[in-house]
Amino acid sequence: MSEIEQSLKPLFDEINNLKPKFIERLTKAVAIPSVSGDESLRPKVVEMAHFLVSELKELGADDVRLRDLGIQPPPVTTPDLKLPPIVLAKFGSDPAKKTVLIYGHYDVQPALKEDGWATDPFTLVEVDNKLYGRGSTDDKGPVIGWLNSLEAHKKLGLDLPVNLVCCFEGMEESGSLGLDDLIAEEAEGYFKGVDTVCISDNYWLGTKKPVLTYGLRGCNYYQISVKGPGADLHSGIFGGVIHEPMTDLIKVMGELVDVNGNILIPGVNEMVAPVTEKEKALYDAIEFDVDELNAASGSSTAIYQDTKDILMHRWRYPSLSLHGIEGAFYGGGAKTVIPAKVIGKFSIRTVPDMDSKKLDKYVFDYINGKFAELKSKNTLVVELIHDGNYWVSDPFNDSFTAAAKATKLVWNVDPDFTREGGSIPITLTFEEQLKTNVLLLPMGRGDDGAHSINEKLDIPNYIEGVKTLSAYLHFYGRS
Ligand code: BES
Ligand code: MN
Ligand code: MN
Repeated sequence: MSEIEQSLKPLFDEINNLKPKFIERLTKAVAIPSVSGDESLRPKVVEMAHFLVSELKELGADDVRLRDLGIQPPPVTTPDLKLPPIVLAKFGSDPAKKTVLIYGHYDVQPALKEDGWATDPFTLVEVDNKLYGRGSTDDKGPVIGWLNSLEAHKKLGLDLPVNLVCCFEGMEESGSLGLDDLIAEEAEGYFKGVDTVCISDNYWLGTKKPVLTYGLRGCNYYQISVKGPGADLHSGIFGGVIHEPMTDLIKVMGELVDVNGNILIPGVNEMVAPVTEKEKALYDAIEFDVDELNAASGSSTAIYQDTKDILMHRWRYPSLSLHGIEGAFYGGGAKTVIPAKVIGKFSIRTVPDMDSKKLDKYVFDYINGKFAELKSKNTLVVELIHDGNYWVSDPFNDSFTAAAKATKLVWNVDPDFTREGGSIPITLTFEEQLKTNVLLLPMGRGDDGAHSINEKLDIPNYIEGVKTLSAYLHFYGRS
């Protein structure tokens, strides 16, 4: 055992001892329904920020700040809706130590018991060594995980091996509105001296093997509003007599993507960087197969059976998903209504070398053109709700090396190096503005069900995850 491994032993023991306290802390966090996408729950998102502030202060943070980001830009339903604050905090400022910025998000996706949850989504429940609840894995578990690591150090009177700068946001699930500007503003201020950025907000590829992640897709999120009649109408009285917004919308939405996931908007696929031979070889080393995909999706609906095809389509090709229609009738029963106004939502996952602004133009032109072909008397407006860049980096640096050592120490296996199909909009901004590299160091597993019903975090992932994050700081501090 190396000297550093020896010195981590008491810390790991302390983390084991603190397990009940850590679960309690996550229980409190999950109990706050900080859903950024639900305007009516905005006060809860703010409450979650305050919860973090009080925890950070109790753990001895310096210079804790709640940074106001002003009013949420349109499209938005509630007038003058304030964005939730960014939580900033520091632990230590020793010039002899390296400085790590940790980022995470304290907002979560919406969740309703009626969606099919087995238990109340905002009550953390332990079943079979797993913790169920909205945000357990995305991203409250990891954010609280960092706090847990700080607590274990504090309890032992153990100095942190690095200076830590925390940046926690409350709008990640809604496009990280406002955060870009703050990072640019603070690059030479609050964030000055940051050597590297570590984000724990993704997942292992499967359920058994830890990974380190060096790429994400971007996400451009759009809405198409179609309106006509002055109010919702009786389909017996107006059906066949007026142009129906829902019919127009479904026609247009039906032209965006085919059932095999091919994007039908001209110009989009042409922007995608070609596959190189070097890249092809990378996929061979990854432990994953279609059975794991099927297990995670709870089905056998995979388009591709071959591992390489699956990974390429998740990581390096764009995709277009249809998410929903606001204003449409969706309840049980058989309401004979013609909705007066409907808003279709869809997003495109972006990859190198797509140009986000060009993509918007292709999308708008195509949709407006398709709608014009319908010759409907309704009106259609297509808008971008938010966009976030893709990010791909080189995983050969001190930060990845430290994370690989930490993973090996805790999990006794060398991690796979992966990319992700999901998005964390702010990643590229950190890299560019702070001129540092970024590491994605996941806590949860590929079947955790982020954004889905019954989201969970396995207790071993939570506890060993706290050890991994802690060991990462120690290895990086010595590099
Ligand atoms: N934690 C995810 C990012 C993620 C997703 C990483 C899947 C790895 C795999 C993050 O909270 C998230 O869900 N981001 C949104 C961003 C979007 C709203 C711009 C996403 O990917 O949908
Ligand atoms: Mn997340
Ligand atoms: Mn998420």
